[in-house]
Amino acid sequence: MNEYAFVLGSNWLLSIAELLAHVQDRGLGVTLVDHSRHIAILDVKEKLDNNQIVDIQSSLGGCYKTGRVIYRYDIDVVRNAFPVDGKLTKEDRDELIKMPWLPRVWQNPRAKKIKFGVSTYPEFDGRSAIQYRRFTRTMDEQIKSALIEKGARKVDYFAYDKPDKRVTERMNLALWPKSIAENNLLFPPNSEILAAFTAKYLYFARTLVVYDSALQQYRDESRPYISSEISTSPKICRTLLNLAGARPGDTVLDPFCGTGTLLMEAAMLGMKVIGVDIESNQVQGTKSNLIWFGKDAGQRVDFEVIRGDARELSKLVKKRVDAIAFEPSLGPIYSKPPKRGDVEASVRELTELYRTVLTQAAEILHPEGRVAMTIPVIVTDGGTTSIEVREMLKGTGFEVYKLLPSGLIQSRSEGDKRLRINPDRDLLPERKRGQFVQRALIALTK
Ligand SMILES: C[S@@+](CC[C@H](N)C(=O)[O-])C[C@H]1O[C@@H](n2cnc3c(N)ncnc32)[C@H](O)[C@@H]1O
Repeated sequence: MNEYAFVLGSNWLLSIAELLAHVQDRGLGVTLVDHSRHIAILDVKEKLDNNQIVDIQSSLGGCYKTGRVIYRYDIDVVRNAFPVDGKLTKEDRDELIKMPWLPRVWQNPRAKKIKFGVSTYPEFDGRSAIQYRRFTRTMDEQIKSALIEKGARKVDYFAYDKPDKRVTERMNLALWPKSIAENNLLFPPNSEILAAFTAKYLYFARTLVVYDSALQQYRDESRPYISSEISTSPKICRTLLNLAGARPGDTVLDPFCGTGTLLMEAAMLGMKVIGVDIESNQVQGTKSNLIWFGKDAGQRVDFEVIRGDARELSKLVKKRVDAIAFEPSLGPIYSKPPKRGDVEASVRELTELYRTVLTQAAEILHPEGRVAMTIPVIVTDGGTTSIEVREMLKGTGFEVYKLLPSGLIQSRSEGDKRLRINPDRDLLPERKRGQFVQRALIALTK
């Protein structure tokens, strides 16, 4: 068994869909064997080398850390060892702190100076039968004393135990990728240990790669052209690229390129890029971003940015493209929930726009290629309303590409119903707090 643990982004379902699309498109035989709100455990047929793991982690928009699973406990052992209610069972506590996995991380700690951290990922946020905080601190202390006992010269651990920076009511017992990088925790003999809980198991994994948040922030903030009103987040852009099956060397098209975020991410991943936008300032902005990126990264960027209407895509783009990924215009922005009846006209207009663009896209897309796009989900005073997918696809030559294929997902229906994965769903929601135009992602194939 070659199991890997992936720490998922805030939209766990979308992160899983992206991960599965990415690894499947790389030809890897994978099964999602288990998951939680924070972690996906993938069983990969062949053992991955470090370059492959770095490659996967650094291509994903919705994944923070990747680790190799080194041990697994039945969840009952941990429930009994660290119960919130009732007395702990000593045998189970002993079983946990025996740590038979320790030599898999530190073969020979003698005379070494070691820094490490245990990052705990609960099955859910909120109430639980397990004392996660106590568990984490006990593991920190136990690992430290075991390493000292085995002759380590000095051992320090890093612990993060504060409210989550993004959602303050949530407790966070995991180290941030930034702290891991700053403290060199991934370089032996240092290490980060992931303790990942699911409904059935506690997995211990050793972190191999983390998301490079500093680089991402630098690129996003330093590029010459950005617009807070329209720019799509770089992470969602990466996710769209993966859902569209784009690979290094491919030609990728964004027919609504705006400030060029998606194209910059694609260029970073070694893709050739083509952008189209109806506004000349966006076309200029995208060009300046791509030129800046090429210089900054010291990388040749193969790009073309065209001013034009995406409804005439096949006239504008003369080449065949391998993947199409975009965030189109999503219609009006609302400062309060609009009346349901008031959004109908806009939804009809957008459906028509997307249908025309997709019909054109089908002509220039490689027969095996995919489209990935966002569509608006509008929060009205009478519930949410969105584009009717069948209506949007009528006559385009596209059908929905299932992002959560049942054949790959072993863990889709176990445990808590909030974590169930429905393989038949067409759309994956992406929520943005406080906005009345939410989004959903969809992938299409011919
Ligand atoms: C949501 S923005 C895209 C944002 C982009 N992903 C980014 O990160 O900057 C939509 C873009 O579509 C462009 N647009 C709107 N209608 C268009 C059309 N018919 N053809 C081409 N571009 C269009 C707008 O000018 C806008 O720049």
